[in-house]
Amino acid sequence: MTEQTAMAARTQEHSSEPSRSAELYKKALDVMPGGCSRNTVLRKPHPLYAKHGEGCYVTDIEGVRRIDFANNMASLIHGHAHPAVVAGVTEQLQKGTAFTLATEAEIEYAVHMCSRNPGFDKIRFVNSGTEAVMSCLKAARAYTGRPKIAKVEGAYHGLYDYAEVSQTAKPENWGDMNNPVSVPVAHGTPTSALNDVVVIPFNDPERAIAILDQHADDLACVLVDLLPHRVGLIPASAEFVQALHKWTRANGALLVCDEVITFRSNYGGAQEWYNVRPDLTAMGKMIGGGFPVGALAGREDVMDVMNPLADKVLFPHSGTFSANPITMIAGLISMKLFDKAAVEKLNQLADYARASIAEAIRLADIPACVTGAGSMFRVHMKAQAPQDYRSGFVDQAEAAATKILLDHLFANGIMMINTCSGTLSTAMTQNEIDILSEAMLGGFRKIKQHQAL
Ligand SMILES: Cc1ncc(COP(=O)(O)O)c(C=O)c1O
Repeated sequence: MTEQTAMAARTQEHSSEPSRSAELYKKALDVMPGGCSRNTVLRKPHPLYAKHGEGCYVTDIEGVRRIDFANNMASLIHGHAHPAVVAGVTEQLQKGTAFTLATEAEIEYAVHMCSRNPGFDKIRFVNSGTEAVMSCLKAARAYTGRPKIAKVEGAYHGLYDYAEVSQTAKPENWGDMNNPVSVPVAHGTPTSALNDVVVIPFNDPERAIAILDQHADDLACVLVDLLPHRVGLIPASAEFVQALHKWTRANGALLVCDEVITFRSNYGGAQEWYNVRPDLTAMGKMIGGGFPVGALAGREDVMDVMNPLADKVLFPHSGTFSANPITMIAGLISMKLFDKAAVEKLNQLADYARASIAEAIRLADIPACVTGAGSMFRVHMKAQAPQDYRSGFVDQAEAAATKILLDHLFANGIMMINTCSGTLSTAMTQNEIDILSEAMLGGFRKIKQHQAL
């Protein structure tokens, strides 16, 4: 099938002929709960299935090409099928993909990653961001001998029981701001896990410290994402980060930064924006060059809890596919390409994107705003930028408006993350940003029309 415009595809979606995607989804529903292995790909009435991607464009199996601002949830820093990554991985594929032997590729990549940040004395690779965060929390417990962890209300850190607490808290169960409730995500989460998670509000140093003080002797670490997407993609304030850092120093706890998404923000991660050095950093997503990955890096004495050569191994740590050579090679090629100049250029393009969207909001004269930093942005259907999870909470009216906007963008050839967030790839240029802001303007105007009805 030749490639068609998103507009033509919409016409096809409304025709009586079932699309190939609709047929595939029927088959998928028979064998997978919800018809998929990750909820992120779901769309109503059915997901669309990918045919191929190239640079910042993805073509689905109906033949429709869209600009990809989702980038597999912020994991493709150079877009799709970068020729250098394809070449490196193809060469390794022919030699084997996983061994019960170590590989040179792992060492080379470890050296490169440690050179990007002066706080990365040592690094270990794992297979996902979830695993990276889990390993950081277990390392912090092993190092301190303490059971509890603290985390920011609403922040997403993957699926580990402890890390996911409060991620989906709602007004009816989140409790008092001075003492947020540890709300489980999955039914059946043990109460013991909930009791070992201390929830603090984002960007509120006074309240956060007062809460941490109540658990000072039991806290192994404070876990923080410096630009938490689910909280609202609002940068952490310097005061907040410094307060957490100072508190952990004074109370024998560790500071753990989740940079699974934000490592893209600077050459050595978003932490370069702040004058603090975390003890451990979790990474993932883009550092895999398009393949499954996670990593944790940090202080030598802390990382040493995983050292199998020690007399007593405090945290035995392993993984069948950890540091497999495909991921290591793809990651190394991608990260070498993402040098300081590339980071700077991408962040400047994102500044332009945020300014262009703000201008579209102004022209449409609609209560909306854009947040973000580095190479990411998020559009909120709120007049004021939120400050934390509670002020960023999306009510029904905002959710309805966001859906109109996302549908409009999708129909006009633009794929976003379903929170109306976008992440840039180095394959993008000002041209793609101009197409985005034009489509945003159309989307905002459509929302206004709906609201006037
Ligand atoms: C900040 C953050 N931490 C951890 C994770 C979990 O990573 P993964 O999906 O690779 O397990 C994510 C995934 O979106 C994330 O955004």
